[in-house]
Amino acid sequence: MNARRMAPGSGAVVQQIVGNWKMNGLGAELGELDALVAAGPVAGVSLAICPPATLLSRAAGRLAGSHVMLGGQDCHAAQSGAHTGDISAEMLADAGARLVILGHSERRADHGETDACVRAKVEAAWRAGLTPIVCVGETAAERDAGCTHEVVLAQLSGSLPQPLRAGLLMVAYEPVWAIGTGRTPTPDEIGAVHQAIAGVLPPDTPILYGGSVRPENAAALLAVPHVCGALVGGASLKAADFLAIARAAGAFVR
Ligand code: PGA
Repeated sequence: MNARRMAPGSGAVVQQIVGNWKMNGLGAELGELDALVAAGPVAGVSLAICPPATLLSRAAGRLAGSHVMLGGQDCHAAQSGAHTGDISAEMLADAGARLVILGHSERRADHGETDACVRAKVEAAWRAGLTPIVCVGETAAERDAGCTHEVVLAQLSGSLPQPLRAGLLMVAYEPVWAIGTGRTPTPDEIGAVHQAIAGVLPPDTPILYGGSVRPENAAALLAVPHVCGALVGGASLKAADFLAIARAAGAFVR
């Protein structure tokens, strides 16, 4: 059974549902956020959306005072400086974000982000008062080689600064081969990886599952022991799908 979890700044919850819009969304899509706000909270479920940086300030306006938190998708490790195109954790916080996704496999693959780089970004997030969602996950080749647990635990140990700041950290287990593919590990496989991750984190650190979470499979995935929520890509772009996942999560609030 999942332990009780606290969402940053909210009441007791056991499920965190976070939407990652990735490089999707123009101003015209902000209406999806209005729909999330209009639908009202789901008891015991903490909701957040991480839109592209270009929408952060506008999204903050739409979500102001609501139950839906705002997050960034990445940040630079430095506070400011000559880093063309980058955004600091302080800038995310200034734009209204309270969370930031770090070390997503697309960042690791597209931008060569190493564990050390992710670790520096986690420090930056804490410096700015943001809760990092640190992503780890194995590739298909690593899975086929039977190295899933080893890879995930090594990424975690390299990506997390010590000492950890309990209460200001989330981890997302996202098998690379499951992202955007419609394929997911079995519940038993997910449960085993989440249990291994929980073994090296402070108690009550939310561990989210990510990779092809959809309204149709959300209940089965969120029922897995040690799964405390979901990091949702494609299905977070439409409020109706995201809400369906949030409502499925509501069934696992204890
Ligand atoms: P997906 O993406 O839900 O589209 O598979 C998940 C993620 O990359 O966070």
